[in-house]
Amino acid sequence: MAEIKNIKIIENLDLERWEEFRDIKLESIREDNSAFYTQLDFYKNYTQDHWQKELFNHKLVFAENEGKLIGISGITFYKNEKIKHNALLDTLFINKNFRGIGVGKKLTEERINICLKKEDIINVFCEIFSSQKESIELHKKLGFEVVGKMPNFLKHEGEFLDNYNLQKKIR
Ligand SMILES: CC(C)(COP(=O)(O)OP(=O)(O)OC[C@H]1O[C@@H](n2cnc3c(N)ncnc32)[C@H](O)[C@@H]1OP(=O)(O)O)[C@@H](O)C(=O)NCCC(=O)NCCS
Repeated sequence: MAEIKNIKIIENLDLERWEEFRDIKLESIREDNSAFYTQLDFYKNYTQDHWQKELFNHKLVFAENEGKLIGISGITFYKNEKIKHNALLDTLFINKNFRGIGVGKKLTEERINICLKKEDIINVFCEIFSSQKESIELHKKLGFEVVGKMPNFLKHEGEFLDNYNLQKKIR
């Protein structure tokens, strides 16, 4: 079994590794479809250029084990003056063989640290669908509070899921 001490965190994935980024992103949607609202179809005409632009423009933090990406997570920053004190933690996914050893927690702590380095940011938040109990627990453990719930936000395989809003004040 993999150990957390052997997991490497990668803050700036080389653009040449775009195929690995593509593979773990598509794996996340395929494996945990009820966790994300994007569908596989959305990416079917994506070219190398699209993937590299996404890798370049979205702040992504990866987890790697023995040279292979096993976790992905993202942060969305806002430029608008009125909301730039917030950051959205998004895109969290860990490969099923590496769950339960602390990788999701590590990627989330790492993203909070990145936000702490930006003096403007006082709140981090995330949106988690009611199907993702593990993720809700993970964020609560790291000090996030449930501050709201949008009932019936996501329609997944004919079933409506709620969207929980979780927030943590970081300064
Ligand atoms: C949610 C997810 C990222 C957790 O990643 P992980 O690496 O397995 O989580 P960790 O090992 O870091 O666990 C951290 C905490 O999360 C909670 N947690 C994780 N797995 C859990 C489980 N199966 N049941 C209950 N709580 C769980 C626990 O509080 C845990 O702390 P503990 O180990 O001290 O008990 C992973 O399950 C995943 O990729 N799920 C599918 C996609 C998803 O839901 N993404 C989030 C979208 S917002």
